[in-house]
Amino acid sequence: MIKIRYMKKRMTNRQFTKFLEAKVKNTIEKYKMVKPGERILVGLSGGKDSAVMLHIMNKILDNEIVGFFIDLGIPTFSEESKKKVIELTEKENVPLIIYDLKKEEGFSIPEAVEVLHRPACSICGTVKRYIINKFAWENKFDKIAMGHTADDETSNILKNFVNGDLEQFVRLGPTLPSKDKLVARIKPLYRNYDGENLLYARINEIPFVDSACPLAIKKKKYKRWVNFIEKESPGMKLTILKSYKKFKSHLNVHDPELKPCKICGYPTTNEVCSFCKIKEKLKEQGV
Ligand code: FES
Ligand code: ZN
Repeated sequence: MIKIRYMKKRMTNRQFTKFLEAKVKNTIEKYKMVKPGERILVGLSGGKDSAVMLHIMNKILDNEIVGFFIDLGIPTFSEESKKKVIELTEKENVPLIIYDLKKEEGFSIPEAVEVLHRPACSICGTVKRYIINKFAWENKFDKIAMGHTADDETSNILKNFVNGDLEQFVRLGPTLPSKDKLVARIKPLYRNYDGENLLYARINEIPFVDSACPLAIKKKKYKRWVNFIEKESPGMKLTILKSYKKFKSHLNVHDPELKPCKICGYPTTNEVCSFCKIKEKLKEQGV
């Protein structure tokens, strides 16, 4: 039996599977994430969350769904992730685009980390966000689905609150609308706990990589904090999400003004976007 502490309920594997699928369906409907006929590009990392997202979306939606995986060139980890993503999309009968970072852009994440001396996750995040958006825009997708969970969301709320980063704080939430050449983003797993996704993936034999990225040395402090609060008071993650929504509706923060990047033309708050800056620096260093 599976125990869902925040609901004070016990479920069989079958009941749990149904429960989680209904939860995702409800999240998609509640936040009006998808309209009939929209084309959705699903970001796949090889991990459990995006794998579960693809599986459930494919099961409950009639929309066209395409998987998108970026091969970051991280030895062993990227190869293993790619294998799992291929296995997953074949099983789901969903088309898959594999974007080879080194081939397409001339650098891999480990090369960028060595030259730029910045944390791997921050370079990687910028690169992934830029590339999936560019691909979605050029190929006329209506939405980009990201596998962010309640754990990711609540730890980011806490982090931005603690750091007083209002600009990032207001950019959280279940959806991000489209703007200029930025394709709208949705988070169908917004209310799923990481642990729920793991259980669902195991019960339903969904292929995913179990190992963590070797470059992500940063300790996930805020996730640990959120899990500590959840342990003390089951359901707190969902309460934080609800309260965040209330707060956000009262915050009067204007979106920063965007202008086209001087090099690539994609929207940015600066003259040159973060992705082009990375590429320029790498070029200077001969990568
Ligand atoms: Fe991006 Fe590890 S997957 S730094
Ligand atoms: Zn640019």
